[in-house]
Amino acid sequence: MSKVFRVPLPSARGGATTAPRAPQPAATPPRRGIVAGCLSPHPPHLIYAENPPQNEPRSTGGWETLRWAYERLRARIREVHKPDVLIVHAPHWITMVGHHVNCVPNPRGTSVEPIFPHLFRYHYDFHTDVELGEVIADEANGLGLVTRKLRDPRVRVDYATIGALHLVNPAWDIPVVSLSANNNPYFYSDASLEEMEVLGEATRRAVEATGRRAVLLASNSLSHLHWHEEPELPEDMEREHPYNNHQYRWDMKLLEAIRRGPTAPLRELIPEHIEATASETKAGSLTWMLAALGWPKVGGDVFGYGTIIGTGNAVVEWLPEGSQHG
Ligand SMILES: [Fe+2]
Repeated sequence: MSKVFRVPLPSARGGATTAPRAPQPAATPPRRGIVAGCLSPHPPHLIYAENPPQNEPRSTGGWETLRWAYERLRARIREVHKPDVLIVHAPHWITMVGHHVNCVPNPRGTSVEPIFPHLFRYHYDFHTDVELGEVIADEANGLGLVTRKLRDPRVRVDYATIGALHLVNPAWDIPVVSLSANNNPYFYSDASLEEMEVLGEATRRAVEATGRRAVLLASNSLSHLHWHEEPELPEDMEREHPYNNHQYRWDMKLLEAIRRGPTAPLRELIPEHIEATASETKAGSLTWMLAALGWPKVGGDVFGYGTIIGTGNAVVEWLPEGSQHG
């Protein structure tokens, strides 16, 4: 197996339709580095239900409890974390060879969800923290990962990246670094998350080296079995419930462990949860984010949980060691 698939682990620890707002530097809070990590799933239904101006389809609402959870997270980011960059890892920018970092200064275009184009046709226009993106790629390369800096300005940004970023910051006034999902693990029956630990370490080093104040976004749903037929009204909440009780119970098992803390046991539990529920965390976003945070000893704050076409989704915030939820 080539090093594209396996690398030695480090021995140590571990747009809007109109013109977007130009990124503004945050007021200068004292702490630098990674100030929070969030599980921030991207189902297009949540954006469809919100009816933002950037998205073409219109809805009558739906999935409110998850959207309220995102409102809490938005307030935390705006009022407490005040990051000068959002770093997102999302499973639908699939790169078969290596980990890619979007280094295009101003991606803009239309992102369409291929299975739900009637729900998600989103016009985006945002700014990349190119300097940080380049340092992440360099650090990852230095740790043995196959990496690439994406420079093509014609890139069409995937809906998982756009979805998470909109749900966390619909104003798009914070610069972004976007990481691809090297989805080789999908060729194997077991999750292969070791590389995500390395990518997390590289991300942390890059944030510290550049003096950024960063919030990390892991754009993953949890249990991932889903319906194959859609109601006539997509947001008909009478039809929305867990795919089955087995999937729901496993999501609760994972979330109870998350709430309880510390995060170290999640290294074992995440692969078990993937095996039991076909969880989207198989793409590695959650493992990347927790590794970047240094597998904190504290639990995560679960802002909300709900299902979308039967899949499990949770909005969760972790703080690094020495921080407290408030
Ligand atoms: Fe997805």
